[in-house]
Amino acid sequence: MPKILNVNNLEKSYFSGSKKLTILKNISFSVEAKDTFSIVGPSGSGKTTLLGLCAGLDQPDSGTIELCGTETGHLTEDERALLRNQKVGFIFQDFQLLPSLTALENVAVPLELQGNKMAVSKAKELLEKVGLGDRLNHYPSQLSGGEQQRVALARAFSNSPAILFADEPTGNLDAETGDKVIELLFNLNKELGTTLVIVTHDIELAEKTNHILKLKSGSIVENITLA
Ligand SMILES: Nc1ncnc2c1ncn2[C@@H]1O[C@H](COP(=O)(O)OP(=O)(O)OP(=O)(O)O)[C@@H](O)[C@H]1O
Ligand SMILES: [Mg+2]
Repeated sequence: MPKILNVNNLEKSYFSGSKKLTILKNISFSVEAKDTFSIVGPSGSGKTTLLGLCAGLDQPDSGTIELCGTETGHLTEDERALLRNQKVGFIFQDFQLLPSLTALENVAVPLELQGNKMAVSKAKELLEKVGLGDRLNHYPSQLSGGEQQRVALARAFSNSPAILFADEPTGNLDAETGDKVIELLFNLNKELGTTLVIVTHDIELAEKTNHILKLKSGSIVENITLA
């Protein structure tokens, strides 16, 4: 399988006053198309920062990221946004649904903005797939955490992304609901061939993926292939 993500010698720092904090250093790895990949490590080790860089939400200080065949460092902000719209899905730990939109609108509106004429029917289909066909008109505040994450999942898969980045997708859910979300994630991965890159504290979840990247204090300490 060709590589869908190539990360080469990535480095990222932040300044705290005049003090430079190196958050990520010497980060190199790659992910094959349609594969499943997890990133684990202690709190503060740089997982979320790395995911944001990989997804083109942020820019590294040095190093390169090739996402879906395009080196993102060479793109303008608009070009990166376009690449994300077309190829990338993102799931956040805190769902990040728009509170003033219903479940249906949360999924349909991004599709409409991309000019999809079938946005509403496509959104309905996806919400039915994640078991929320009877919650279409609920606002996020009227949904449980697990239900909100399933809406986020439907939204993330709505543009049939080539690669999906998920940051602690079960972090705010109880074990049983978390398992359901994970099952959905892996089913959708199989069905649609979406590459999964998942940040998680949950070792059981990490072991369901084919590769585990371990970070510690911003460096890779292990890159294990399980399958
Ligand atoms: N915008 C920022 N400005 C300054 N420092 C930041 C910024 N974002 C992250 N950091 C720092 O970078 C380090 C890594 O943060 P990151 O969120 O990537 O960790 P993480 O591995 O995702 O942790 P957690 O498991 O707690 O979510 C932290 O020490 C954090 O304080
Ligand atoms: Mg994090």
